[in-house]
Amino acid sequence: MERVLVIGGARALGAAVARRAAKDGYDVVVGARDLAAADALAGGIGATAVRVDLQDESTLAAAARRLKDGIDHIVTTGSAPHDVRVTELDRDRLLAAFTAKVVGPMLVAKHFAPVLRPAGSMVLFSGVVGWRPRPGSLVKGVTNGAVEYAVRHLAADLAPVRVNAVSPGVVDSGAWDRLGDRKTALLSNSADQTFVGRHGEADDVVDTVMWLLRAGFVSGETIHIEGGARHKSA
Ligand SMILES: NC(=O)c1ccc[n+]([C@@H]2O[C@H](COP(=O)([O-])OP(=O)(O)OC[C@H]3O[C@@H](n4cnc5c(N)ncnc54)[C@H](OP(=O)(O)O)[C@@H]3O)[C@@H](O)[C@H]2O)c1
Repeated sequence: MERVLVIGGARALGAAVARRAAKDGYDVVVGARDLAAADALAGGIGATAVRVDLQDESTLAAAARRLKDGIDHIVTTGSAPHDVRVTELDRDRLLAAFTAKVVGPMLVAKHFAPVLRPAGSMVLFSGVVGWRPRPGSLVKGVTNGAVEYAVRHLAADLAPVRVNAVSPGVVDSGAWDRLGDRKTALLSNSADQTFVGRHGEADDVVDTVMWLLRAGFVSGETIHIEGGARHKSA
């Protein structure tokens, strides 16, 4: 049975990946900075839980020690958004955003390289904002763009372990529920920005992540799951 660690696995898209992987017969480890939340999800899907905080390298080292018997795949969904105009940048939040999406996954690779099995893979999360600049998109856009380069270079470094990214468009993952009444407008506007005329669903992303775990001849790639949004003019 292949083992997959899902970082950010207690919530939203990470939880959706963890649930599907468990259903598909993987040995799932839910990694989250909130161990109680990871335990709660893991208990319901026959998985185990481990504390992983992408902002704290010691938790990455400890998780790799816990999983020293070997791991096949790591999916890392973490993000720490800082969606402000350039004049409002906060240095700590800027660094936290890069750590969640780019530096953290690179350190995950550092600590897990000795335990990742050769036929295994990593999947990082980018996002469409990397390709659609607008006022306020600076941090999300640059971190998402950096993920595309991170997977190319990690793929070279970790080979034959494969490293890829998914880049979702706007997806109703649960994360947007915090917008309350404004969520419907966001999803509807995002649908207008695609060729396919709809927003993304969690299953659109999960289907692609599960395919990447098995896609043995795909490495260093970013797969865009956004209905053509990068190509459609405003
Ligand atoms: N949903 C969309 O429309 C969309 C669009 C484009 C790209 N994406 C990308 O897809 C990924 C997942 O997004 P989402 O929709 O599931 O919602 P999200 O709220 O962005 O999910 C982020 C996940 O990262 C975890 N996380 C944050 N900081 C962490 C840390 N220091 N250590 C470990 N985990 C940490 C969160 O866990 P906690 O519960 O601990 O906060 C949560 O599980 C993100 O990278 C996001 O940028 C999403």
